[in-house]
Amino acid sequence: MKSAFPISYDPTQTESRAPRNASSARTARDSALMKAVCLVALVSGLSALPAQAAAPIENKRAFIAELVGKMTLDEKIGQLRLISIGPEMPIAQLANEITAGRVGGTFNSVNRPHNRLLQDAAMKGRLKIPMFFAYDVIHGHRTTFPIGLGLASSWDMDAIRLMASTAAKEAAGDSVDMTFAPMVDIARDPRWGRTSEGFGEDPYLVSEIAKATVKGFQGTLPVPADRIMASVKHFALYGAVEGGRDYNTVDMSPMRMYNDYLPPYRAAIDAGAGGVMVALNSINGVPATSNTWLMQDLLRKEWGFKGVSVSDHGAIVELMRHGVAKDEREAARLAIKNGIDLSMADSVYLKELPGLVKSGEVSTNDIDKAVTEVLGAKYDMGLFQNPYLRIGVAKDDPADLDAESRLHRAAAREVARKSMVLLENRNSTLPLAKSKTIALVGPLADAPIDMLGSWSAAGNSKNAVTLRTGLNAAVGTQGRVLYARGANITNDEGIVKYLNFLNWDTPEVTQDKRTPAAMIEEAVAAARQSDVIVAAVGEARGMSHESSSRTSLDLPQSQRDLITALKATGKPLVLVLMNGRPLALQREQQEADAILETWYTGMEGGHAIAEVLFGDYNPSGKLPISFPRSVGQIPTYYNHARLGRPFTEGKPGNYTSQYFEEVTGPLYPFGYGLSYTDFALSDVVLSGATMPRGGKIEAAVTVKNMGQRAGETVVQLYIQDVAASVVRPVKELKDFQKVALQPGEEKVLRFAIDESKLKFFNAQLQHVAEPGAFNVQIGLDSQAVKQKSFELQ
Ligand code: NOJ
Repeated sequence: MKSAFPISYDPTQTESRAPRNASSARTARDSALMKAVCLVALVSGLSALPAQAAAPIENKRAFIAELVGKMTLDEKIGQLRLISIGPEMPIAQLANEITAGRVGGTFNSVNRPHNRLLQDAAMKGRLKIPMFFAYDVIHGHRTTFPIGLGLASSWDMDAIRLMASTAAKEAAGDSVDMTFAPMVDIARDPRWGRTSEGFGEDPYLVSEIAKATVKGFQGTLPVPADRIMASVKHFALYGAVEGGRDYNTVDMSPMRMYNDYLPPYRAAIDAGAGGVMVALNSINGVPATSNTWLMQDLLRKEWGFKGVSVSDHGAIVELMRHGVAKDEREAARLAIKNGIDLSMADSVYLKELPGLVKSGEVSTNDIDKAVTEVLGAKYDMGLFQNPYLRIGVAKDDPADLDAESRLHRAAAREVARKSMVLLENRNSTLPLAKSKTIALVGPLADAPIDMLGSWSAAGNSKNAVTLRTGLNAAVGTQGRVLYARGANITNDEGIVKYLNFLNWDTPEVTQDKRTPAAMIEEAVAAARQSDVIVAAVGEARGMSHESSSRTSLDLPQSQRDLITALKATGKPLVLVLMNGRPLALQREQQEADAILETWYTGMEGGHAIAEVLFGDYNPSGKLPISFPRSVGQIPTYYNHARLGRPFTEGKPGNYTSQYFEEVTGPLYPFGYGLSYTDFALSDVVLSGATMPRGGKIEAAVTVKNMGQRAGETVVQLYIQDVAASVVRPVKELKDFQKVALQPGEEKVLRFAIDESKLKFFNAQLQHVAEPGAFNVQIGLDSQAVKQKSFELQ
């Protein structure tokens, strides 16, 4: 099993690198490290101030140029290395390396005493160049918010910005300067485990979220003390790995790249992201890490990116495995020549760059360019002005990193509420009455770690509210909750072993030793005594993680058996899904009376889910990704290209594009999600039938709440280019508005359409809006739309 994680991902390497979760075991490791920190601090003495160059610090270019001019080659190379504390690099040794000028920044050191010590070490260096500290702050920091797919399901940019700014504040309070986020890889193949981390399948929605997260994490440049620099990842096209198998190759036409996959990275960069993390995959035959077209022509020249680039973990060495470098020397040469400024978990820059410069294969200019970017990023993080900007002073250090007072639970709960999507609700099964008896069953009903979702690095599962806790708190003394686990996540011990491999402290997936039949029997008994069943089913969070690709999108058999047995009781059955990718739910759709997709809701999930189940919050989430009926239907993304022989509903299927043994189209389309109330949309009204060049038109609809409850919905605007110089998608999301309406209330929503919404990259990769007809479609999901047309002159 170990060979599956060759170099790039060795969790034992770092102190708090647990990407899925920092379990309570981290606390023990923290305190051991703290002892080491205190010892080294005693020996090393206190912080010095950085030596400033003669050039005024206000003048970034001059200041950095002067500093670079004073640096030796070894010092420059040192700045290009991003190193993690771990067994191979204990903190004391790391401190020495820093003082010697052999490290530019660290990742995974996330507490102030550690980082103060490391910064002190930097201040003892010849040029006193400050360190920076990076971390995977992905969907929260100490407070865990919903995973990426959940955030995207909110379609609420304020909520997403709130997540990012709260996470930034907490991380900055832990002396973190930079996050490896946002992750904006478009995902159209849910077999890919990292689908969970991103924001779905749509270029427009993901681009909007890219902007919101960059603004939330980073704010402005220079980055304020309570924000952290954003580095958008994984540049580029990582979400398009063949077959959804992680780290696999990507082969894609330039038009598809430009129109569908690249816009979110571009949006993050245009929003000011200070960094870019380079993808592990190859693109059209050249690994991103050595891909000159990608890193130079596109990123630097075409897009004008001025920030720092960072390799992914060990990616430079992996150039040998890709088969484009014969040895480490060649790998280092390719990467530095390609403009990979920072080498994450570096071994090769240190070893190989001096010789490469000596031989002339790498020029001093190549090195200077990279070092200038790294120092520029440090400048933008405010570290030359104050190396201790986010480290602060010892007397203010928190006594307990995971203390309740450090959390932002209200914000997490607010965002979590908005992140859930109601997929089914037959006979108004939901909302539930608190006065009833509820059978709460399922392997995810009381699973704190899984609430957090993967990449909840600094989140601590001891702070997570499970559904069981949330439901009990909401019901209080009004009704009863009867709990029975009912099933293990899976009965396949091989899978359990795989899932527990990455978690080196405590196993994440713990198996109930009873027989599956005994567990089901207990659950059925609870169901029989209850008015309604709530079954929390889905995936253990490790099933939707880096390197956790799946061949099936079904619920594991253990859980299917449980659902079937519960269904047989005849009691109303509510499925609460917890998962990090679209699942194939044809069977469950038939069996369940209601289905609530909660993804992984984060630390306050249990309370937030209870609010939705009881109707204290009316669900408003919409899917950011299509749900296929079965794994064989992949890809099912809504904005697919038009065809000569499309499948047409109601017409004979022969000789049309379809799979003949299954209903065509997704089970749940992009943009779909129910509410406890009903919304009606009027026809679309356009302000004109033609749009002059450079002009705009307006599309208006009236949306009305037809039901008895207040609620929110997302009104979505799609555009179809009727005839263009190249094949265009059937439709593309171009705008949306989230609107809150009281019962009976209606609002007119207006959408401005200008040429920017009609533009696409043509066969010559020119960004053009071509004259002719366009269909404007407005709806509450991507399928149920009203349409009007206009002509662009
Ligand atoms: C590897 C992952 O691909 C990347 O997303 C992450 O930021 C780095 N490791 C650092 O943890």
